[in-house]
Parts: sequence; C-alpha cells; structure tokens
Amino acid sequence: MQASYDMHKDVAVITGGAMGIGLACARRLASHGAKIALWDVDKDALDAAAASFDSAPLCLQVDITNPDEINAAAARTAENFGSITQLLNSAGIAGAAIPTIEYSTREWEQVIDLNLNGTFFVNRAILPFMQANKYGRIVNVASIAGKEGNPNAGAYSASKAGVIGLTKTLGKEMAGQDIAVNCITPAAAKTRIFDQITQEHIDYMLAKIPRGRFLLVEEIASMVTWLLSRENSFTTAGVFDISGGRATY
Ligand SMILES: NC(=O)c1ccc[n+]([C@@H]2O[C@H](COP(=O)([O-])OP(=O)(O)OC[C@H]3O[C@@H](n4cnc5c(N)ncnc54)[C@H](O)[C@@H]3O)[C@@H](O)[C@H]2O)c1
Repeated sequence: MQASYDMHKDVAVITGGAMGIGLACARRLASHGAKIALWDVDKDALDAAAASFDSAPLCLQVDITNPDEINAAAARTAENFGSITQLLNSAGIAGAAIPTIEYSTREWEQVIDLNLNGTFFVNRAILPFMQANKYGRIVNVASIAGKEGNPNAGAYSASKAGVIGLTKTLGKEMAGQDIAVNCITPAAAKTRIFDQITQEHIDYMLAKIPRGRFLLVEEIASMVTWLLSRENSFTTAGVFDISGGRATY
C-alpha cells in the first residue's frame, strides 16, 4: 500500500526524468499532486515519458553537464510554475567497466562531469529558487558504489562518493532555511543503465545483496517521495541506504 502525501503546492524538477529511477519517482510525485518538470538530454525518451502521465509534465531537453542550459531550464521551470520546491537529481551514467588505471582521461572525465559536476551545477542553479521560497527538498541519487567502491567502476564510485560529500555539505549549509538536501545510495535496480554494465558486473552486484534480488524502481520512489515531502521536516545532509542489506555503514 502506498503512503499518501499532499503535494499539490509542490513543483518538482527531476533530472534524468525520462526513464528509470527518475521517471518512476516523477510518476509517484505526480500521483500525489506535484507539478513535474522532467529534464533529460534524450528528447525521444522525454516524449515517450510524457505520454505516461495523466497530466502532461513540463519536458525540457537539458544536458546537465552544461551550466548555461541548466540555468536556462531552471528559469523556464520557475516561470512556468511560479516556483521550484523539489529536486531529484537522477541523471547519471555508469561509464566503462574496466580497471581504474586503464581509464583514459576522457573516459574518467565523462563520468565525473555528468555524475558529480552535473549534480553540483543543478543544485547550484535551483537552490536560489528554494531560498526565495524559504522552503525546498532535494534528493541527489548517489550509489552504494560511492560508499563501498566497486571494482572496475572507479570513476563511477568516485563520482558517487563525491555526490555524498556534496550532499552533506549542502545539507548543513541550507539547514536553517527549511531546505533539506539528502542523498540515496541504491544497490542494483534493473534500468537502462544496465546496458552499460557487463553481465559479470551485474552478477557481482546481485551476489552482494542479502535480499537476494534487484531493487525495484518503485521501492526507490517510496523512499524518495518521503524525503521530498513536507513530512520530512527534520532530516537533512543524510545518506539513505536502499541496498537490501548490502551496506556495511
Ligand atoms: N539502476 C541502478 O542499479 C542504480 C543503482 C545506484 C544508483 N543509480 C543511479 O541512479 C541514477 C538513475 O539511473 P537509472 O538506473 O535510472 O539509469 P537510466 O539510464 O535508466 O536513466 C538515466 C537518465 O539520465 C539521462 N541522462 C544521461 N545523461 C544525461 C545528461 N548529460 N543530461 C541530462 N540527462 C542525462 C538519460 O537520458 C536517462 O534518461 C543514476 O545517477 C545512477 O547512477 C542507479
């Protein structure tokens, strides 16, 4: 049974919202009444995602490695809805599954540019709108890899560890303004990101989950919705485990 929230006053931006975890969370937030802005680099996927909502979301094609595009999208979203009160940063890539010392500079930078720098750019662009409201809720999607460090996922693990550190800092900086900044550290959920990962690596991840199965995107949506709701009135700068028992801290 799903919890019930009143999100009719809320305006949520979801990066990477065209599929996977972002889309599942966006649909859940919309089901509680939130107005939705999906930001994603993939135009076709955005069009397909929009068709799955009862009430059409605002869909913006945004590359979150590009600060100018992000700033323009934030202004457009606020203009369209009057404010921005929620943010879920879900856009991300896995990068190459190779030993860390074999990464080319470009391969390394691609992952850091999107997963870490992109998350920073989006937080930086949207927080002023939340400060103007004196209210906001942010969830950055990190990963269990950021806590534990997965072999053959050096750039990914480092980028997600960076997202955890960024979240803790922002959470503390914003704590006095009723703006909560938290992150989640999921284990493996079957989404398109799996296309970038070898079967060997998928088997490695599954073997480490005591629950013995993959995480469902709907289970992530349940946790994220609470973190983005007014019910979450105290918790900030937190790292929320959703690893089916894998996390050791
Ligand atoms: N699926 C998992 O097992 C898992 C586990 C832990 C963490 N995560 C994290 O969850 C987040 C979402 O992953 P997912 O599994 O839903 O993946 P996904 O591939 O299904 O979705 C990622 C979305 O990000 C978008 N995107 C990619 N590059 C972008 C860019 N430059 N600008 C804007 N959008 C861009 C894609 O178009 C896509 O819609 C990622 O940050 C990922 O690292 C996933």
